[in-house]
Amino acid sequence: MIAKETIDKVFDAARVEEVIGDFVQLKRSGSNFKGLSPFTDERTPSFMVSPVKQIWKDFSSGKGGNVVAFIMEHEHFTYPEAIKYLAKKYGIEVEETEQSNEQKEKAGERESMYLVSEFARTYFKDNLFKTEPGKAIGLSYFKERGFKVETIEAFQLGYCLDQWDAFTKTALDKGYQLEFLEKTGLTIVKGEDRMFDRFKGRVMFPIHSMSGRVLGFGGRILKTDKKAAKYLNSPESEIYHKSKVLYGLYQAKQSIAKEDNCYLVEGYTDVIQFYQSGITNVVASSGTALTPEQIRLVNRLTKNITVLFDGDAAGLRASMRGIDLILEQGMNVKVVTFPEGEDPDSFAASNSPDELQYFLDTNAKDFIQFKASVLVNEAQNDPVKKAETIRDIVHSIGKIPDRIQREVYIQECSRIMDISEEVLFNSLAQLGKKELAEASKKFKKEQKAFEVVRPEQKVEKIDTQQFLERKIIELLLLYGMEEGEFQDLVLKEDDKGELVLEPEVHGAKVFEKIYLDLQQDEVELSNPLFRDVYVHLIEEMHANETFTIESFLNKTAPEIASELSSILMDDEKYNLHNWDKNNIFVKEKKAGMTQLVSETILSLRCHLIDKRVDQLQNEVLKTENGSHEILEEIMNYHQLKKLLSNKLNRVL
Ligand code: CTP
Ligand code: MN
Repeated sequence: MIAKETIDKVFDAARVEEVIGDFVQLKRSGSNFKGLSPFTDERTPSFMVSPVKQIWKDFSSGKGGNVVAFIMEHEHFTYPEAIKYLAKKYGIEVEETEQSNEQKEKAGERESMYLVSEFARTYFKDNLFKTEPGKAIGLSYFKERGFKVETIEAFQLGYCLDQWDAFTKTALDKGYQLEFLEKTGLTIVKGEDRMFDRFKGRVMFPIHSMSGRVLGFGGRILKTDKKAAKYLNSPESEIYHKSKVLYGLYQAKQSIAKEDNCYLVEGYTDVIQFYQSGITNVVASSGTALTPEQIRLVNRLTKNITVLFDGDAAGLRASMRGIDLILEQGMNVKVVTFPEGEDPDSFAASNSPDELQYFLDTNAKDFIQFKASVLVNEAQNDPVKKAETIRDIVHSIGKIPDRIQREVYIQECSRIMDISEEVLFNSLAQLGKKELAEASKKFKKEQKAFEVVRPEQKVEKIDTQQFLERKIIELLLLYGMEEGEFQDLVLKEDDKGELVLEPEVHGAKVFEKIYLDLQQDEVELSNPLFRDVYVHLIEEMHANETFTIESFLNKTAPEIASELSSILMDDEKYNLHNWDKNNIFVKEKKAGMTQLVSETILSLRCHLIDKRVDQLQNEVLKTENGSHEILEEIMNYHQLKKLLSNKLNRVL
């Protein structure tokens, strides 16, 4: 764990405009900077950075937040990774707090399993580099395979000593519990007290989560033993779900996003050899058939997958089936087949990086076209097989959610297979409208699950109440700690003894004014996010004389900080269009601050009364008698509304 002091230092030192400036060309625009969105392909800048507020906002993707959120979003880092990145940039030493034995015990089951796995990784790595058998057997094996030390380190490879329980004993000595050694599969327990290391005598490939936690291991045997499996993997466990993991994704995620393509290979050694040849955007499904979950992991980083096939034709047909799953998720698939007898590992090892890159570039074929040509060759002069082939290719095309893309493929396949488009379209239609509808429904649903929350869109189209609640939050964020002179109307007796509304001016901080006024009517914000933020803001502003938005945002969860940034940046939108060469909007806004505050509160109160009156009137319609009390309540509300409207008119 990174020490809190380090995190504080990082937040103190990091300037959002400097950090983002490393990735985006920023130009001054009033008090802000603007540039082209690094998250979309745009030509006119809609990406804003506010040095004053220390936040950024991308109006084209809806993303936004503080400096850490940018690094997480742009580099696909986890929170700790982002902190470490910034610490490095600003020359801050990262202090990590070690976990005590007591902390180890307290951690939950999953956490304990992570800890054990983490320990095992370090232990296996130390074996490899620091023990005699490790160096003589493990390390020399890797070197023979052509792995360089940096590569071995990048993948955190290791070695498990060829002894029955060397690992298990060490782990127990260090205070790790047998329960978790067994649950992660690292130790096999037989009978009362017989314990064995699962990976005895194997070289170790740790399997990481996207954020770099060790979930499990693959171990390759080094002896030639016909009975033992060449590769052994950790069993499924609470932390390791084979179907949801891609080997190498942790090392590859940044370059997948950067290259906008992901190479998919079969196993550990293919990934590592490619990585070493400079092709770092590569992952493996490792042992299992490709699953939708695995594809989704990639889909978040790029829409393009290139599947690499070994040189043997046997597996080809079977593997092609799995690719329909990728099409289903609306991704573009290319394929590369290696020469007879070669796999990606051997090809990368025996060719230079340039040759490998050239080979991939020149041999990548569009999947559908590739499939059509393979099938057409197989089915030559065999009408029965040809019919089957049509069904097969149409089946794949049918998986593509986008209609236009489907039509383009039909045209191309018609050419490649020498079959009329009509026949293909007909057989596509036969596939059943139902199936197509389902595919596109499923696609939309999946898209939704990964859509970035777009705060403004979400809020803008919502009703008056949402609008006003949002405004309240905006006012709190922008002016909460500022003093204002607020005019209140109080009931007084005039000379003739009649009750009249008299203005009375009093000074208050904006947050106090908002809080007290809303409390009068016991108004609670209806939007859960706003409500939560409201409560926190009021508390913090109340407790802390030196409250700043920056420190508040830094303490807030990234998703919420992103929403708040979007609220804060709302007025900056004008800057994008150069509407305010003289910053007129901003100036006016500040001058009219107290008015705006009063107006917003009153509008919200009026709106809530209207809503309540509507409700009551509905009740009156439903009840035949006994509605006297309700009518009376309505009358009371009308009076209150009149009073508030009166105030509102004065304010306006
Ligand atoms: N693989 C696996 N389980 C097996 C065999 C292979 O998971 N029983 C995976 C591994 O990830 C491996 C890849 O498939 O990296 C390639 O297989 P293979 O070439 O058989 O493994 P190598 O270790 O390269 O063995 P060899 O040196 O004999 O080529
Ligand atoms: Mn091999």
